[in-house]
Amino acid sequence: MKYDFDKVIDRRQTGCAKWDMVESIFGDKDVLPMWVADMDFPVAAPITEAIRRRAEHEIYGYTVPGASVIESVVERVWQKYGWKIQPEWVVFTPGVVPALHVAVRAFTHPGDHVIAQGPVYYPFWAAIRDNGCTPADNELRLVNGRYEMDFADLRNRFRPREAMMPSPSRVAMMILCSPHNPVGRVWREEELAQVGDIAREKDIIVVSDEIHCELLFRGSKHIPFASLSPEIEQISITCMAPSKTFNIPGLQASSIIIPNQKLRNAFNAARAGILPQPNTFGLVALEAAYRYGDEWLEQLLDYLQGNLEFLIAYVSRNIPRLKVIKPEGTYLVWLDCRELGMGPMELRKFMRQRAKVGLDDGYLFSPGGAGFQRMNIACPRATLREALQRIERAVSDLG
Ligand SMILES: Cc1ncc(COP(=O)(O)O)c(C=O)c1O
Repeated sequence: MKYDFDKVIDRRQTGCAKWDMVESIFGDKDVLPMWVADMDFPVAAPITEAIRRRAEHEIYGYTVPGASVIESVVERVWQKYGWKIQPEWVVFTPGVVPALHVAVRAFTHPGDHVIAQGPVYYPFWAAIRDNGCTPADNELRLVNGRYEMDFADLRNRFRPREAMMPSPSRVAMMILCSPHNPVGRVWREEELAQVGDIAREKDIIVVSDEIHCELLFRGSKHIPFASLSPEIEQISITCMAPSKTFNIPGLQASSIIIPNQKLRNAFNAARAGILPQPNTFGLVALEAAYRYGDEWLEQLLDYLQGNLEFLIAYVSRNIPRLKVIKPEGTYLVWLDCRELGMGPMELRKFMRQRAKVGLDDGYLFSPGGAGFQRMNIACPRATLREALQRIERAVSDLG
């Protein structure tokens, strides 16, 4: 079946976070929203069909993930990455962000330091802070237009784990973003292996948020961090979900893969009473997406590739004062706006009030993100063109 990603669909008045919150977030109802990470595209037909079929049953009681749902995750991970996981390793949650919060509670003591690599998806910092820990920013470095990890700094941040006596300087955990939101890196095996070596040497748990793992631009290959070796598997928590890939985040179903039984028990103990199973329809959608969604996904990835190429060409031809940090994965583009010479608040105001586009402000992702903006390009090309034209006009008005 051929899907039409060019079709513009009005999402307003559907309780849509991206479109219905425009005025309250950006202060102007005419701002074009390119912020929160969902897509303005309808989902794969088999997902809608599976939900419809389940709805016709008309009893929506408490639900648990059945064997077939679990098997769909095990098979997906094997088919995509050749990583053999056991069914009992898979823990389901209604989202990755809540799982990050639970992981911080499960694997740290109050006051511990938790590493993340800014600029990074800002709920990472909240998950660390809100659960009593101290964020430690192992900042990525921008080298020749591409972000790289700073391994020397990473190594320096670890201290030996003192199991009996947590000290304020104890580093207990790292939250890895792979692929990385917002800088779009799809980490290479040698990069992941270095993180793994350091984590093992320093006895650290790595929570790897791989929610964007199937959103890859041409030439990129995702490697689950935990799949690097049986030893790394034992210190890893892998967060996956069909939510970004198949555009079903509103259905809230994620799979958290925890091979180490002790860690799994600790995670399950920490979630008890606060984090339920995904809802009935979330699990149905997850299985349908993994089993029957690939025809749609292939077409989606082609369309996103086209959008990225369109954006890069447009910006370099018409808005050369902006630089695109070319992503290898995700549908989020990190725009370097530093040449405009604006402070973070001025840039925020400029995008909202002059250009009338609703982007994510770079400084939210870390202080190092100041001067950048994150743009979601998972929309019909006409919408993307409109956003770029608005930015182009506003920049040329600056003189
Ligand atoms: C890296 C990353 N993790 C998690 C999420 C959100 O996960 P969830 O909606 O499952 O809580 C996002 C959404 O943008 C994301 O980019």
